[in-house]
Amino acid sequence: MSATYLMPTYNRQPISFNRGSGSWLYTKDETPYLDALTGIAVCGLGHCHPKVTEAIQQQAATLVHTSNLFGIDWQERAGEALCHAAQMDSVFFANSGTEANEAALKLARLYANQQGFKRPKGIVMEHSFHGRTLLSLSATANPKAREGFYTLDEDFIRVPFGDIAAIEQAAQDHDDICAVFVEPIQGEGGLNTAANGFTYLEQLQAVCDSHNWLFMLDEVQTGNGRTGKYFAYQHSNARPDVLTTAKGLGNGFPVGACMVRGRANGLFGAGSHGSTYGGTPLASRVVHSVYEVLADGSIMDNAVTEGQFIRESMVDALGQYGVSARGAGMMIGIALPEEMDCSSLVDRARDEQKLIINVTGSHVIRLLPPLNMSRNESSQVVERLVNLLKPSF
Ligand SMILES: Cc1ncc(COP(=O)(O)O)c(C=O)c1O
Repeated sequence: MSATYLMPTYNRQPISFNRGSGSWLYTKDETPYLDALTGIAVCGLGHCHPKVTEAIQQQAATLVHTSNLFGIDWQERAGEALCHAAQMDSVFFANSGTEANEAALKLARLYANQQGFKRPKGIVMEHSFHGRTLLSLSATANPKAREGFYTLDEDFIRVPFGDIAAIEQAAQDHDDICAVFVEPIQGEGGLNTAANGFTYLEQLQAVCDSHNWLFMLDEVQTGNGRTGKYFAYQHSNARPDVLTTAKGLGNGFPVGACMVRGRANGLFGAGSHGSTYGGTPLASRVVHSVYEVLADGSIMDNAVTEGQFIRESMVDALGQYGVSARGAGMMIGIALPEEMDCSSLVDRARDEQKLIINVTGSHVIRLLPPLNMSRNESSQVVERLVNLLKPSF
């Protein structure tokens, strides 16, 4: 690529796409690439889903923005739909995952403030990722993302993901904890699931309830059908006090949401939080269109079936070489033997197999395909991955 005026915040791959449709991305010369990444878990309904495109087109021609100084009919409708899907009481619309999380973390501070805490702490996890604004970044574990930013480390206690005993220990060691903030499955940090699966969330809620802490879930990546339920926590009997989401919420249109329930409801009042853009008529109508496509559950059922198919097929083909699979629905981790050099896998998958993937945690292939991928396309994901990997064993 020639000289660029863009700040070098990303190591970009030497390719760009001209258009997308369903599970496929196309370069200018119309070469098709099978997309098992969907813009990092964003286009869950596939690229340019007709219902979402129609919503964008119609609303763009009607009214794009008025500000939150006025009633916004589509925001009301999207809010009702989303709270219904998430079983939450009310929602604040933001423009990204990190902003949704910033709202959640600010809520935790208000909650603590109400109880007279001077400088409360939140419990977060090793290998977590919550975004790039300063409070979200401080909750994030990734050392590369944090380096040099004077993160607010005194505000957080970090414990191993999946380790309830470590949280009980923190409760004994500190009397100023106000919340636990956790991803149901860790996406950026290696596609990590807790050893006891979603039961972990029930245990977390029980600890939070017993200490009167807020139980807060970051479903920025796991939400909107990605794991086969509308929200991943719905695989369990747990109920969060605060729930954030983004990514699949707008299927590529930038939007985020922070939802609250019960004791977390009513903490924000007029003027205590806000966003010029949050929940514009355009963004809200898009959110509503995504909800309408997901609501009957069939696409989430497809995510369960196809995700299971991909995981099982990969283990059938390569389990003998030490390859294992994890995740839920269409949030899939294919763990390769630790000694395997995975540094060129993303490039080779793209160039040799015309398959778009991601590698996380050094040796885990991360697949985030569209939730509505067909069996034929899922089979192609498996076939292309096996073709890529088999010669290395
Ligand atoms: C779990 C989680 N939280 C927060 C974020 C940040 O979202 P955004 O990039 O939209 O700010 C991400 C992004 O990868 C994420 O995976």
